[in-house]
Order: sequence, then C-alpha cells, then structure tokens
Amino acid sequence: MPVVPVERGPVDPLDRDGDLPLHEQVERQLREGIQAGRIPAGAALPSTRALATALDVSRGVITEAYGQLASEGYLAMRQGAPVRVAAAVQQRPREPARSLHPTFAYDLRPGVPDLAGFPADAWLRSLRAAWRQAPFATLGEPDPRGLPQLRETLAAQLARSRGAAADPEHLIVCGGFRAGFVELCRLLARTGADRVAVEDPGWHPARLAIEQAGLGVVPVPVDADGLRVDALHDVRAVLVTPAHQFPTGATLSRERRAALVQWASDHDALIIEDDYDSELSEQRPGAVQGLAPERVVLLGSASKRLAPGLRLGWMLTPSWLTWPLTTTRAVEATGGDVITQLAFTDFLERGELDRHLRRMRTQYASRRAALLSALARRLPQLTVREAPPAGLFVLAEGEIDEHAMVEHAAQHGVGVEPLGLHRFEPGGSTGLVLGYGALAEPALDRAVELLSNMLPNAPSQV
Ligand SMILES: Cc1ncc(COP(=O)(O)O)c(C=O)c1O
Repeated sequence: MPVVPVERGPVDPLDRDGDLPLHEQVERQLREGIQAGRIPAGAALPSTRALATALDVSRGVITEAYGQLASEGYLAMRQGAPVRVAAAVQQRPREPARSLHPTFAYDLRPGVPDLAGFPADAWLRSLRAAWRQAPFATLGEPDPRGLPQLRETLAAQLARSRGAAADPEHLIVCGGFRAGFVELCRLLARTGADRVAVEDPGWHPARLAIEQAGLGVVPVPVDADGLRVDALHDVRAVLVTPAHQFPTGATLSRERRAALVQWASDHDALIIEDDYDSELSEQRPGAVQGLAPERVVLLGSASKRLAPGLRLGWMLTPSWLTWPLTTTRAVEATGGDVITQLAFTDFLERGELDRHLRRMRTQYASRRAALLSALARRLPQLTVREAPPAGLFVLAEGEIDEHAMVEHAAQHGVGVEPLGLHRFEPGGSTGLVLGYGALAEPALDRAVELLSNMLPNAPSQV
C-alpha cells in the first residue's frame, strides 16, 4: 500500500487568517484529494503527530479532521494501525467545467440572436421592480402553469401581437419552445399517439425531442407555400412553423392555413404551431391558433425575441389539454423561476419587449441586407430563395459538399449549419442555413469572404 510522504504532506499550508477553522481546512483538502484520486484508496496517511508538526498546528486539529473524515467513510482507522484511505472510496479525477456549446469568431448559425443587443438596463429595471413589488408570498411554490399576473399580461400581448385567441387560464409558461414541446410530446405518447408529423426540411432539434419521447417522426414536404397539407397522413399531431418556415423561410399561404385547420378537424388531430420568431418580421400573419384555439397549441419563446439564456416560453393550449399538462407539471414542479416571470411581466407591461423588437427588426433587416449582398458578391454559387424578409436566417442553396464546408468553416472560425441537418428524407438540394442575427455588417462580410475562400472559383477578393 502506498504511504503518503509526510515531508511533502497530503495537505498544503493552511490559511491562518481566513474564516475557516484549521481542522476544516485539513478536512477539505484531504476529502478533495481522496475524491480526485490524488491520495489513492488504501494509502496510509501520516500520523496525527507527524502531520501536526508538518503543518505547525496542534495535534487536536488533525485528530478532529481525521475523526470527521472517518465518520464520513473516507478514512479507515484501527487501533494501533496507520490511518488509511478507505478501500471502497470511488475516485475520479476532477475535470474543469466545460461548455458543450462551440464558440466561433464568426457565428453564422441560424439560431443566434444579437446577444449584445439584449436590453440589459431595461431588464435590470424589471428585475428590481420584481424584487421590490413582489409580496413574499410569491416566493412560495409557483402555480404549475406560471404566475397568474404573467399569464394575464402575456395573454393580452399574444392577442395583440399575434392575433391569438388568448385565454390566460389556458396559457402555460414554460422554459422555452423545446421544454414545452417535450411536455406535449410526452403527453401525446402517454395518451396513445405513436407519430408526429413534421415539416421536411424542418428544425432538427424538434425531431430529437419527438424521438426522445418515444414517438416516430413523419416527414411532410414543404414548398414555397409552406407545409404541403395535402401530403399529411394519418397522425395525431403535426408540428408547423406557419409564420416563418424553418429553414426555407416560406410563409404558410392563406389556403394552406385553412386546409391545415380543416385537416386537423377531419382527423381529430392537434396542430403544434412553433411561433419562434414571428415578431422579428415587419409583415407577419396572425397565429393559426386564432382560427382554431381548440385544435392548435401556440408555442412561443423568448429565445429569438430576447435571448435563449432566459429559457422562457409559453404555450396557449386547447382547453382539453390544459389540465393533463398542468397535473404533470404539478408533479414535476416545472412552474419555473418566479423572479424571472415577475421581471418578464414588468418588462411586458412597460412595453419594453415591443420597443426591443422594433429596434431589432430594423437592425436585423440591415444585417440581412448585408449578408445577401456579401453572398451575391462573394458566393454566387449559392442562391438565396425568394422569401419575405423575416427573422434571423436565410437559406442559401447550391451544389456544395455540406460536410466539408461546415468543417472548413469551423476551422476558420466560422459557424454554419448545413441544410442537410434539417432534412429528414435523403435527397433534395444542398446548402447552408445562414444566420445573420449575431454579427454586425462588416463581420458578416468577412465571414462570407472566409466561406468563399473554401469554394473554387469564388471571387473572394471582390
Ligand atoms: C424553428 C425553431 N423553433 C424554436 C426555437 C426556439 O427554441 P427554444 O425556445 O427552446 O430556445 C428555435 C430556436 O433556434 C427555432 O429555430
């Protein structure tokens, strides 16, 4: 068995001016050393006398630390034998905390809004107001659907800005689109559904959520008028992005909207309306939910409108869905963070969201124009489909090796997403889904220049 040498000692010098008692400092260092495997299982520790001398503390300090660690199971102490690290302790080297999210010098991925444009001062004001005005009772268990005052304010906002049939009793606050969508998928799976129809191409993470809930994905093609409603099959639910199809940018036509609602009624099916970015467009059709509130769940999110880090979203549900969703939420305590909800209520009531969206629409329109111009000059091999200016991305199609392009781009600090990522059936055109939300105009130009260097015959120095 290894013996931990006393000279070096398993414990670093102690902080005599700090708040932490000396025995606790010894304890912490030993515990961390054992957990991380720096002091191996079975190793003999120095005697209390030797370690006390090495650290220049009284022997009682070490006796107390050893005693505590023995009572927790880290050390084995037997009369007359050296103190050893218990043989059964599981050891694992400690890894530094890492993020799973890649970072890019030039982020052209479609989901990223301008985080630097986040209205931090206004949000801070609303956070302060939340703390100032909230009675302490609000800090108790939240209503599983979210705070009533937020549901009231948000319902009014959705009626105004989305033409939604917004009843606050059927409005549920959730942690963004994905959180709400996962809840819906799980409920569908529990109540006997086996498949959910999705747009193809369509947003890849939604597919993962459906599959994770144990449901099958039924891809339905999309054209310039949005989802091909005539190609919908016998499914219990369909996920659509009517205001701004992801990733083609199409708007669901008037005829298709009517056909979709009719289809849902004929097949007793649920329409899940992903309303992720509609207010970022100057011209936006009202929500389909307004046409058929008992057939449609309107799922919205603050991720594009404000910032994904807030994890804030909402679902306007048909009345028959509200209760099953609510009971599940009550069990899982998914009522959300009340302070964020109070701040969001204040933010909406002050008109800050509307103000922010007005500002961002102008900014994004200018960034979009810059990206389109850079693409036309530097990457004529890619064609951007005719689609009304909207949101935060464009689809640029062309004959490219998507995989190689994405890899090369990443090596040059440019983040892009291949169209193929969002295709569910093989085949179809290739291309890139390019976001312009996060980069100012000169950076967009530079990013496209870096992309163009990867393709042969690109006039990159124009
Ligand atoms: C098509 C689509 N739906 C929904 C979302 C928002 O998801 P969440 O609210 O979970 O961040 C995004 C964001 O990238 C999106 O692109």
